[in-house]
Amino acid sequence: MGLRVPTDTARRWITDPVESGSAAGFGVYLHVPFCHHRCGYCDFATEAVGGTSSAERRELFGRYVAAVRADLARQVAAGRRAHAPPGDDLDDAWPAVTSVFVGGGTPTLLPPDLIAELLRGVTEELDVAGDVELTVECNPETASDDLMSALADVGVTRLSMGAQSFADHVLAVLERRHTPGAATEAVALARAAGISSVSLDVIYGTPGESDADWEATLAATTAAGVDHVSAYALTVHANTPFGRQVADGALPAPDDDVQRTRFDTARRHLAAAGFEQYEVANWSRGPARRSRHNTLYWRHGDYLGCGVGAHGHLAGRRWWSTRSTPRYLEAVESGRHLGPGPSPAVTGDEVLDDGARAVERLMLGLRLAEGLHPNDTPPVSPLGLEDALGAGLVETACGRFRCTTQGWFLLDDAVSRLLV
Ligand SMILES: C[S@@+](CC[C@H](N)C(=O)[O-])C[C@H]1O[C@@H](n2cnc3c(N)ncnc32)[C@H](O)[C@@H]1O
Ligand code: SF4
Repeated sequence: MGLRVPTDTARRWITDPVESGSAAGFGVYLHVPFCHHRCGYCDFATEAVGGTSSAERRELFGRYVAAVRADLARQVAAGRRAHAPPGDDLDDAWPAVTSVFVGGGTPTLLPPDLIAELLRGVTEELDVAGDVELTVECNPETASDDLMSALADVGVTRLSMGAQSFADHVLAVLERRHTPGAATEAVALARAAGISSVSLDVIYGTPGESDADWEATLAATTAAGVDHVSAYALTVHANTPFGRQVADGALPAPDDDVQRTRFDTARRHLAAAGFEQYEVANWSRGPARRSRHNTLYWRHGDYLGCGVGAHGHLAGRRWWSTRSTPRYLEAVESGRHLGPGPSPAVTGDEVLDDGARAVERLMLGLRLAEGLHPNDTPPVSPLGLEDALGAGLVETACGRFRCTTQGWFLLDDAVSRLLV
């Protein structure tokens, strides 16, 4: 893919961005890999602990939280330049943290005191913005009064809950352990505890899901009283039980036309319920309820990542940790490095050149309904732009550059046309 980038003025989208890259804020992602069991469709870095005793779990969780804290402390102490591409003359001091995301896995399998301990790691190591967004992912079956009050007490501002579906038989195919009612109840508990922003994740296109199931799921989602919804098309990953069942013909692959219809139904239903679609798969009740942390990713921003399988990004250098919990613990506890960079648990990294950064800036920024600010848009080929505009994949509005709905579905195509 050819890209006409680098004169000095043509690098302003990297050196002087208005809202992307270094201007997007600074985040911290903390990964908690533990789940009761591994759902058949999931390819996240997870560790099933359902078969262990509560004493074993307490010991493992305590050890893991201590390791994540030690990992974060080491990454912070190394300074910003140690994470940046070699030769980059960035200021070594860390900016204030604008968002923290504790994701999983199932972070709410941890007892509340250990979740608080994880979060204290961030506030003790880094300056944190006064209005920091602090999100914790939660599975409905782990919700309780005590958990929600404890999360509110440690300053959690946002809860992201995996409901996935409100149809019993769809939850069974997804191998989920909660009932539809548990998700609704968990939202009410979070609200009652005073957590200011609550989001539900739902998945469409699961084998066996009907149009009516999906409509009922959307209706129950909005009726639950959330202010944010993430709706994902089921992705079948080859390395999962679902992937193997689809390959064997035991499970039908999700159908593209069905997925498109379900997406259109979600857009209609959520718009009618007062939600604004601000990203391909995300809706909120107004701009203040958008996920600040995920917006940082889509704006190509900088963030530290700690924990099993966590990724970090700074100024075009990206790194990632081992996906194995035992290897993660061993590396952090011994200080023996598995790969490059300040964290012993990192197994790989890459430095993106300007061309690769331009592709990423477009792929991520065009996921947002607001698209890209003109100053933050990398130079694109005039012929490619004409082609993508003519094909109805992108548009410009008030100088901003963004995808059409059709372009959202054909994002790879849109970006490759722009870079001809
Ligand atoms: C990694 S999960 C962690 C949250 C929590 N453990 C849960 O499952 O509810 C984050 C979200 O990713 C989505 N997700 C995970 N695997 C997916 C897949 N194969 N296809 C579509 N969405 C998926 C689900 O909606 C899930 O809520
Ligand atoms: S509970 Fe969430 S993170 Fe855990 S295996 Fe299931 S989808 Fe993956």
